[in-house]
Amino acid sequence: MKAAVINSYGGTEVLQIAEIETPQINSKQLLVKVMATSINPIDWKIRKGMLKLLTGNKFPLVLGFDVSGEVVRVGDSVADFQVGDPIYTSLNSLSGGAYAEYTAVDAKVACRKPENLTHEQAAAVPLAALTALQALRDKGKIQSGQEVLINGASGGVGSFAVQIAKFFSATVTAVCSAKNIELVKSLGADRVIDYTRQDFTKEGVKYNLIFDVVGNRSFWSCQSSLASNGVYITTQPTPSYFGQSILTALIPGKKAKVILLKSNASDLAFLKELIETDKLRPVIQNIYQLAQIAEAHAESERGHVVGKLVVKVAD
Ligand SMILES: NC(=O)c1ccc[n+]([C@@H]2O[C@H](COP(=O)([O-])OP(=O)(O)OC[C@H]3O[C@@H](n4cnc5c(N)ncnc54)[C@H](OP(=O)(O)O)[C@@H]3O)[C@@H](O)[C@H]2O)c1
Repeated sequence: MKAAVINSYGGTEVLQIAEIETPQINSKQLLVKVMATSINPIDWKIRKGMLKLLTGNKFPLVLGFDVSGEVVRVGDSVADFQVGDPIYTSLNSLSGGAYAEYTAVDAKVACRKPENLTHEQAAAVPLAALTALQALRDKGKIQSGQEVLINGASGGVGSFAVQIAKFFSATVTAVCSAKNIELVKSLGADRVIDYTRQDFTKEGVKYNLIFDVVGNRSFWSCQSSLASNGVYITTQPTPSYFGQSILTALIPGKKAKVILLKSNASDLAFLKELIETDKLRPVIQNIYQLAQIAEAHAESERGHVVGKLVVKVAD
C-alpha cells in the first residue's frame, strides 16, 4: 500500500511517499481503508524526534492519528462492526499510522462516522475534539453558567473547545488574534480577547476554568485570573506542569491540571451526536493530498492554523 513514511527523525524532508506492507490485524482490530486523515501538532513533534523516548528508533514509521475511512476487514472477536462500515477514530498507538491507504484500528476506539460529515470533515474531528471534550468535561468538570476562558481558541483543539463549552452552557471568553475574532464568535464565543492587544491575565476578570490550549501561560501567571476553586488546564504534558498538578491536588483551592487525551469509542459517539444535531462542527483551513504531507506539516508548525488541516488519502 501507499503511505507517507519517515525513515529517520528530522525536518519535513524526512516525510516520503513509499510502498509498504498493508498492516496485519489481530482479532480485536479492524482493517480500515483510510479516506482522510488530519494533522495534529503531535505528528510533527514525533517527526522531529521530540517524543523518541516513546516512539523509539524503528523505521519506517507511519505518522498520523486521525482516521476517517471504511472497514475492509474485521477481526474474529469484533462484533460491533462489519465490512463497509464508515468509521472515524483517533488511533491509540504510540506513533499513529493514519498517513496510509490502510490502517489497523483497535475496535474499542472506533466509532461510526457522523452521518452528516464527509470523510474529509470527519477526519478533522477525533484527536482535537476528544482533547477539548476530555479537558473541559473530565478535567475541568465544566458546569452550566461558569466563566470559561479558552487560550488558543481558533486552532484545532480550541475551535472545538469553544463549541463544547457552549454546549455545556458556559460563558466563553475566546483568546485569539484579530483575524480570527469573527470565526470564534461564529463558534459561540461570548467575549473575544485579541492576544496581540490585551493580556487576559491583566484584565481583573475571574474564570472558573482556564483552558490553555496553546500552552504558553503558566498556572502561576493565570492564578489571579482564576476564581477561588478555579481550574487551569494545560495541553502540555511537561514535568513542571505535572508537578503543579500533583502539588495543587494536595491542597485546597485553585487547581492545575494536564490533559492527556485517551481515545475511546464512547466519547467519539458523544461527539458524533453533537455533530449530527448541529451543536458541533469542524473548522477546516485546507485540504491537502497525501503527496503534500510535508507542506501540511510545515503549515501546522508555523502555529497559526485556523481549525484543522485535513489530508485526503483516497477518493
Ligand atoms: N495533551 C494532549 O492530549 C494534547 C492533545 C491535543 C493537542 N495537544 C497540544 O495542544 C497544542 C495545541 O494543539 P492544536 O491542535 O490546537 O494546535 P493548532 O491547531 O496548531 O493551534 C493553532 C492556533 O494557536 C493559536 N495561537 C498561536 N499563538 C497564540 C497565542 N500566543 N495566543 C493564543 N493563541 C495562539 C493560533 O491562533 P492565531 O492564528 O490567531 O495566532 C492558531 O489558531 C499543541 O501543542 C498540541 O501538541 C495536546
